[in-house]
Amino acid sequence: MPFAEFTDDLRVGHDEIDSQHLGLFEAISCLHDALRAGRSRQEQADILAFLRGYTVDHFEAEEAFMREASYPALEAHQELHRALTQQVHELEAKYALGTMTLSIMTMHFLKDWLTNHIQAEDQKFAAFRRAK
Ligand SMILES: [Fe+2]
Ligand SMILES: [Fe+2]
Repeated sequence: MPFAEFTDDLRVGHDEIDSQHLGLFEAISCLHDALRAGRSRQEQADILAFLRGYTVDHFEAEEAFMREASYPALEAHQELHRALTQQVHELEAKYALGTMTLSIMTMHFLKDWLTNHIQAEDQKFAAFRRAK
């Protein structure tokens, strides 16, 4: 079983968003596995950079869908995305400087953040789309 499993309750019923969420879960699992297997710092840094890029791309795509749908909570949602992006950037910068090592705790933080965000926030957008 992957570390971050994309379970059915996380689906929002929007094909592109669902497949991007799945990709994020896969990237987190991949990073977790690299960590557990004691892969090189460079390899871990590469996966972290991929995860950051994928996260930013996903947030932009999701916000564009929200804009198209005139989703009234877009701004508040963007703020949540911004906060996580900022944290991932800081993580990456610290890691690059060698002032931190990636930990299983960090992996749990990312997985939990994403899971909670999808369940609490992305699902609100899904409900809004269904009600339209
Ligand atoms: Fe979101
Ligand atoms: Fe999302």
